[in-house]
Amino acid sequence: MFRYPLEEIRGRIDIVELISTYVNLRRSGKTLKALCPFHTEKTPSFIVNEDLQKWHCYGCGEHGDIFGFLMKMENMTFSEAVREMAKRAGVTIQQSPAESKQESDREKLLRINSVAASFFSETLRKSPQAMDYVQRRGISDDAIANYGLGYAPGEWRALAGVLTSKGISLQEAEKAGMVIKSDRDAGYYDRFRDRIIFPIQDVNGRTVAFGGRSIGDEQPKYLNSPETAAFVKNKTLYGLNHARKSIAQEDRAIIVEGYLDALTAQCAGFGNAVATMGTALTPEHVNLLSRYTHNVVIAFDSDSAGMSATLRSAPMFEQAGFDVKVMSMPPGSDPDSLLRSGDAAAFSRLVAEGAPLVEYRLELLKKSSDLTTDSGKAEMLKKAAPILAEVGSAVERDRYVRTLVQYHPNFGTGTARAEESIRRDVESQLLRRGRGSPRDQRPAAPAPEIRKPVGSSLALAEKYLLRAILSDPDYAARVFAELASGQFASSGGKTLASAIAERVSDGQSITCDDLADSLAGTEAGDLLSEIVVSESGPEINEQAVEDCLAKLRSNWKRQRMKELAPLVERGEISSANTEFAEYWRLVQELHNTV
Ligand code: UTP
Ligand code: MN
Repeated sequence: MFRYPLEEIRGRIDIVELISTYVNLRRSGKTLKALCPFHTEKTPSFIVNEDLQKWHCYGCGEHGDIFGFLMKMENMTFSEAVREMAKRAGVTIQQSPAESKQESDREKLLRINSVAASFFSETLRKSPQAMDYVQRRGISDDAIANYGLGYAPGEWRALAGVLTSKGISLQEAEKAGMVIKSDRDAGYYDRFRDRIIFPIQDVNGRTVAFGGRSIGDEQPKYLNSPETAAFVKNKTLYGLNHARKSIAQEDRAIIVEGYLDALTAQCAGFGNAVATMGTALTPEHVNLLSRYTHNVVIAFDSDSAGMSATLRSAPMFEQAGFDVKVMSMPPGSDPDSLLRSGDAAAFSRLVAEGAPLVEYRLELLKKSSDLTTDSGKAEMLKKAAPILAEVGSAVERDRYVRTLVQYHPNFGTGTARAEESIRRDVESQLLRRGRGSPRDQRPAAPAPEIRKPVGSSLALAEKYLLRAILSDPDYAARVFAELASGQFASSGGKTLASAIAERVSDGQSITCDDLADSLAGTEAGDLLSEIVVSESGPEINEQAVEDCLAKLRSNWKRQRMKELAPLVERGEISSANTEFAEYWRLVQELHNTV
């Protein structure tokens, strides 16, 4: 039976001591008060109750126990908070068998990586030509130490020899991606040879993989570790372990492409820079960053690959509720080359001048158009209309229209007519996108205030519903009648709902313990623990269940519409398909509810 020793940890950690390390608590009668760390306020409404070992903020409504406090304060998941607290309390946490097997595989890999990292870093100091390369790239001694840079010698079995001498089997080293099995004999040879080594570290600073840059003409330019039990490329951002504090403090991240872009930027004072390591940005990357901030500046290379990566990545951030700015750099440059040749102040200006995606797209469009002829200008304006149609606010749209008037053939004879003509093109684009007639829309819809991170209230609604289902079979029947488990919002929620639904349909009674056992160590298991611990959450009532159900249903509809939209646009779904009707029904339903 697997369960976190929550009571034991609670017994050993005093909530007042814990919270005092973050905020200035003052005693006032039976309780302690402070300025709330989770929202901005001038008079204290954050209260800690020692007897209950709970905290509550009357200003923002947040509340919880020691685990909830750490989750919010340190952006941790429930398991992370429990583990951290257990460590501080000196309580050992037993693991489920699956978890401990995974953990020990990972530990083995990390040990191999750590031996390799020490070997590479010693070798760098001993190799004049590698040191020469590093210095030519402007990397300081401090940076070499700080980022654990190294050098893999140009030999076939240098690391293999070192690993063997430390009693590490080469089969294990192969699993860690450090050596490759030879075709010709029974042996293994080093993956990284004659390359500068960049250790890739997780947020706790442990080396999970390596990137190696060739210092000669060797291809590929960068060679990376393969994915292993310790390294999932899609979920890893290079430099995040160094950057996460600054990202949270500045409430903004700069996202770059390369190892050296992140390293150089961080060394030049842009401590909030992290790199995607050349791959496309993934939703996992976005998710990871959203633990620390919802503001991002995209500073990918100023070449065609970098630009198309920018166009692909920015909407992913926007969908996750990020405020996105795009930084423009001179053609052919990247943050590393800019910072090497220019000064940090110039780079800082470029960061500050980061533009919204629409502006960036319009600039690209202008640059790729021939603006010396009337037909070239007209062509450009035609392509600009669908870009402007994507701007949500009418006021903003108008602002962009005005920046484009000068390219209209009628500009000479009067701005008003030129403006009107561009606006008409944009409106017809709006109509084509099925947004309803623009004449029906308020021209000056107020811009939304501060954008809240998407998901938080959705996540709360999901948790509330799951708690309702677990507490009462009638609610379970009610919810599952309208929402299939696959239609829940988060992946953990889907799995948990499906596990519950399965038991309900088998006529079994649902017990949290039994669920906790089968889901231990998974996302769904974490979610379940959170739900079970939040017994102090809002009381379950019918109206709130209906509200949350409606919220999850409309979220699912929106997701489904997003899935279907590109298929309809590309003509892959035609009126003969049932999905076609489904798509239009969703479009209408969602418009009626907005
Ligand atoms: P770039 O080709 O832009 O290289 O790749 P760079 O970062 O500017 O490197 P320098 O300045 O020439 O040394 C950007 C990132 O893409 C990944 C690496 O993470 C690199 O930092 N990449 C690139 C690879 O993984 N493999 C490659 O062959 C090339
Ligand atoms: Mn570069």
